[in-house]
Amino acid sequence: MPLRSADWWQRGVIYQVYPRSFADSDGDGVGDLPGITAHLDHLEALGVDALWLSPIYPSPGLDVGYDVSDHAAIDPLFGTMADLDRLVAEAHDRGIALILDLVLNHTSDQHAWFEDSRSSRTSEHADWYLWRDPAGWRRGKPIPPNNWQSLFGGGAWQWEPRREQFYMHIFLVEQPDLNWRNPAVRTAQLDMIRGWLAHGVDGFRLDVYDAFFKDASFASNPPLVPQPRGLARLRGWNRQLHVNDKDQPELHDFLAELRAIVDEVPGRMTVGEPLEVAPQIAAGHAGPRHLIFDFDLLKQPWKADALADAIDEREAAFGPSRWPAVVLSNHDQPRQATRYARGPERDAVAKAAAVLLLTLRGTPFLYYGEEIGLGDIHVPRKEIVDPPARRFWPFTQLWWNRDQCRAPMPWTDGPNGGFTTGRPWLRMAPDLATRNVASQSADPDSVLSAYRRLLAVRRALIALQTGSFRWVVRARGGVLAYRRDAPGEAVLVAINLNAEPATVALEDPATAALTWQPAYSTVGEDRTPLDGATLDLLPREAVILRAPLSV
Ligand code: GLC
Repeated sequence: MPLRSADWWQRGVIYQVYPRSFADSDGDGVGDLPGITAHLDHLEALGVDALWLSPIYPSPGLDVGYDVSDHAAIDPLFGTMADLDRLVAEAHDRGIALILDLVLNHTSDQHAWFEDSRSSRTSEHADWYLWRDPAGWRRGKPIPPNNWQSLFGGGAWQWEPRREQFYMHIFLVEQPDLNWRNPAVRTAQLDMIRGWLAHGVDGFRLDVYDAFFKDASFASNPPLVPQPRGLARLRGWNRQLHVNDKDQPELHDFLAELRAIVDEVPGRMTVGEPLEVAPQIAAGHAGPRHLIFDFDLLKQPWKADALADAIDEREAAFGPSRWPAVVLSNHDQPRQATRYARGPERDAVAKAAAVLLLTLRGTPFLYYGEEIGLGDIHVPRKEIVDPPARRFWPFTQLWWNRDQCRAPMPWTDGPNGGFTTGRPWLRMAPDLATRNVASQSADPDSVLSAYRRLLAVRRALIALQTGSFRWVVRARGGVLAYRRDAPGEAVLVAINLNAEPATVALEDPATAALTWQPAYSTVGEDRTPLDGATLDLLPREAVILRAPLSV
């Protein structure tokens, strides 16, 4: 079956599945591929166009799957290759595309390539990782070749006595970085990519793509000026300007090669996760069918000014000709449902945040669970799985660990929310008796019902998918109001971030002159918020209106 359209990468909504936490089909407490397949009806009813699966490859699990020990296989924890084929086929039958997460920057230290590479300087894979001689010796100890640091804490160089050399790791010691300047690495990885494409997957998310290439001469990074203050100082990574350990010019060449392979079949795409590049640089890496995440928006509080500034920066960086991605949550960050509001306000704000995510210019990425307003969980210290949080406690992760945003999905109000018949690998959210897919499906006022209606409206309005962006009210009085225009159709989105009602005057004569019809409101189907040239918004309400445009 063909996908809904070849330009789903731009018009569609991409849903991130964190496979461990989505649905467990075999009772081992860990979500798996058949579990995802079994819940495709939910995703179809929700109205998403594509799924991105966080890594499903064999892994010792030290970075919970982002430490890959075989890029070309499926971890038995998640199922078999036949399970993936079935998931791809059944998703395609529903018009849903499927993209995999590619972790190309590093492997697990238990990958056969690294085991061979570390064994001697003359092994077959000797030059597949970043090996360097010590800069010298001090009191019998080797000195690292330069000042590079690990993002997860500590230095980036680990001594290997068998080779009497250091290897480099941006993340954990158990995640050695590959040598992307070695053509053999490139060939092997591109072959692996072709292999997944042959299974019918529709593209890839590229983990930390801007870190693949480091400075060829291994020059040290200069210090950041001024130096960070407070707790941020504790991590060496934060004290440097990362000009030599990532984002090198060779990256463009490689991206072009990889993208050419992906583009051999129309309707495939990639999305790159920047490790840490400025939005302006990241935007320069974006191209048709090849998105780049921009996390600036995600870092803002639920405040109209802050969000408007991030939107402006993004619009300026991407300009009218480049297509952004819109992300408010993922498996590394606090969830939007609890980040923006707690207590009784939470669901109202979750619904308004959904409007922001699904109506800004760009391809929205919806993190699993957000559609029911799933929140961050509290994980007691002894239960923490997330490796940097465990190892560098309390220095790097005093208040936050990534397990908090990875709670298993509650499907029903039954034991363990119907996620597993066994013991869930991570604790369930405490409010699962009321916050679960089944009960929210039955409740027309739930966050889930709001998402379903909103996604249907988005699908019906071309301006929300591909339209241009311009402000109507830029953060005045706590309101964000903007227009998305496409040939023949204008859409007006207004979000009241405040807990008080707001009245918005449509001062722009071109906007006031149009005949606006209500298309959606977070508070109910038949709200008519427009009275002449003023728009009345209830507390925390977000609305969408439409008007025909003469072409
Ligand atoms: C990306 C992933 C994160 C992982 C890291 C190292 O940032 O999103 O979860 O820990 O890469 O692979």
